[in-house]
Order: sequence, then structure tokens, then C-alpha cells
Amino acid sequence: MSNNLQIAAVDLFCGVGGLTHGLTRAGVDVRLGIDLDPACRFPMEANNAAKFMEADVSDILPSDILKAFEDTDVTLMAGCAPCQPFSSYSQSARRKGPHDDWELLSSFSSLVLSVRPKLVTMENVPPLRTQPIFKEFVADLVDAGYYVDFAVVDGRHIGLPQRRQRLVLIASLLGPITIPEAAKPRVTVRDTISDLAPIAAGTADPNDPLHASASLSDLNLKRIQSSKPGGTWRDWPADLVAACHSRASGSTYPSVYGRMEWDQAAPTMTTQCYGFGNGRFGHPEQDRAISLREAAMLQSFPKTYAFVPKDARINFNTLGRMIGNAVPVMLGEFIGEILVEHVQAQTDAMAKMNTADIQSEGQDL
Ligand SMILES: C[S@@+](CC[C@H](N)C(=O)[O-])C[C@H]1O[C@@H](n2cnc3c(N)ncnc32)[C@H](O)[C@@H]1O
Repeated sequence: MSNNLQIAAVDLFCGVGGLTHGLTRAGVDVRLGIDLDPACRFPMEANNAAKFMEADVSDILPSDILKAFEDTDVTLMAGCAPCQPFSSYSQSARRKGPHDDWELLSSFSSLVLSVRPKLVTMENVPPLRTQPIFKEFVADLVDAGYYVDFAVVDGRHIGLPQRRQRLVLIASLLGPITIPEAAKPRVTVRDTISDLAPIAAGTADPNDPLHASASLSDLNLKRIQSSKPGGTWRDWPADLVAACHSRASGSTYPSVYGRMEWDQAAPTMTTQCYGFGNGRFGHPEQDRAISLREAAMLQSFPKTYAFVPKDARINFNTLGRMIGNAVPVMLGEFIGEILVEHVQAQTDAMAKMNTADIQSEGQDL
């Protein structure tokens, strides 16, 4: 290992840079982000020092990554492949999704095995851990000499104001590595978004175009007016209840059209989290769904994170997808801290061994 202990990283499937931003906060030097969505270039480069490469990960060559690792040997490859095929929703609905997506994990695995970075990390939805493709990935890493650990991390335990559970894998060629139990103080919706300017449904804050809330139909406006924080559609007068809610089958989704509670964590932010009808995405007290900025802050992005250039049109679909798909910045920071401490600990252990060797050589003379 060189004297430069800073970890240099390449972030595959980088999206808007949630993982990159968190790794950077922990002290990792993220040099390159790769994603096939051109809309990710702006947020990735405007908020981070990393360069963006618009490319399909299945077409990437090991040399593309090795170029970013020139002049360093503490290297990290991070890859959060799209998770739709493994989400509990698609599993329960027996919709496994396109096989192409499953194969992206294999593309990541092949690149890792060719490049042999010192460190690897991957994040995905918890059901992935029981899938043969994940077990193969772990077995390949172990065969290639990596120490591997993986665990399901609950966002609430790492200071994320969100009930988001994620499977995290870390691997190292340097020595044994483990994901510690996280026990940070709980953070609530109030702690995170209560100081934003009040806005009405269908309007935006003139000082922050991303603090924009989707418009509501008259019926949905009446529904949110009748909604209690943490309550369900069962709180509404009968004439506001949709047929699908009152049927037995509808009753399995009681939180749809709900309001969040100020003093709890938010539900998992999804790609549709800007819509009042798509989950418990109603603001705790204002009669509207959460804004895109609120969704981003509940994903632990800083209030000033720029997702689109100044004066660009705010497209709820595109931005909802980018924000809902992001790795929470705090999860990136949690992973980064583990890796930075691991590198330091391995280096200290090597230095101790070298000192002991020198001392025993001295005694032999
Ligand atoms: C779960 S998101 C990644 C989130 C991101 N790592 C973050 O920290 O915010 C998955 C990303 O994979 C990208 N993607 C999907 N298929 C891809 C492919 N074949 N090659 C490159 N990127 C791809 C999507 O555009 C999306 O941005």
C-alpha cells in the first residue's frame, strides 16, 4: 500500500450521487460516477467532485475504471444496481421484472473480479440476499480472496428520518471487515423538514423551485383535509372513500393517502413519493403531498443539493424517480465511515507488524 491512505472510488449506477455524496462526507475521494441516465450528469457533477460518464455498465471495460484509479492503490468499487426485480412489491406481485436488471449485478461482479479493487460495496433491497445471484456474487468475491460481510441496515438506526431497510455488502482484500450495529439517535420528519416555507398543493417556493408540491384534485384535497397524521382512509367521511378502499382487498393498503407524523420517521421514499395517492406521502399538517425538496431531505440530501440546473423545468416524474431511487446520503456516509476506519485499522496493524519485525531483526544481530 502507498502512503496515501485516501480511498479512491468509482461509483457504478451512480444516479444523482446519493452514495457518492455520503462516501465523500466520510472522506472517500469519489473520482468517477457511471450511469446510463443523462439526467444524472448535472446533480452528480454540480454537487460532487466526481466526473460523470454516461454509459451502460454492461459495456464498461475494466480499463475505464483502472484509468480513474491511476496514482492510488486504496481503491473502492461501489455499485448499487437497480433493485426493482428484488423489491418485496414485485416479489409479492410475482412480477420478477426484466432479467436484464438481474444481469447488471453480474456485470458489476465481472468488473470487480477483473479490476480487483481493494474494497467493494453494494447496496440493494433486502430480498436480494436470498437470491442465487447474490449468493453467487458473495461466493465469487470469497474465491477471489475478499473478506465479505453483509447486513440489512435500518435507516432509523443510522440517523435517517425514514423507515428504509437496505441490504449493504462490503468486501475487502486488506483484511476481515464487518458492518457494525448502528445505534444513532432517531431523527424525525419534524427534525428534517419543519423549517421549510409553507406551500400549497400545486405551487412552489419562489426561493427553491424544488420545494414544489404536486397539484391535487378537488376530491383529493377534501381527502387530505380529512386525513389525520398517521391515520388512514378510514378517518374519512364515507363519500370520500374510494371503492377500492372499502372492498376487503383495498383494506390491505391502509396507509395509501395517509399523512406523515411529525414525530416519527417517514415511510420509505419511492419514485412516486410526491403523490398523495401513492403512499403515506401527505404532509403532516399542510393540505398537500410532500414536495420534491422534502422528499430529497428525507433521503438525507442537504437542503441545497441541486438536482437540475437553475431555471430548468421541474418534472415531477423525472425528479421523483431520481430522488426515490437514490441511496440516502447518510447510508453512503455510514458505509464510507466503515471503509475509512477499516483502511486505517489495517494500516495500523501492518505498521505494528513491521515495527515488531524490525525489533526482532535488531535482537538477532
Ligand atoms: C438505485 S439507482 C442508483 C442510486 C445511486 N447509486 C445513488 O447513490 O443515488 C440505479 C441507477 O442505475 C441506473 N442504471 C440502470 N441500468 C443501468 C445500466 N445498464 N448501466 C448504467 N446505469 C444503469 C439508473 O439510471 C439509476 O440511476
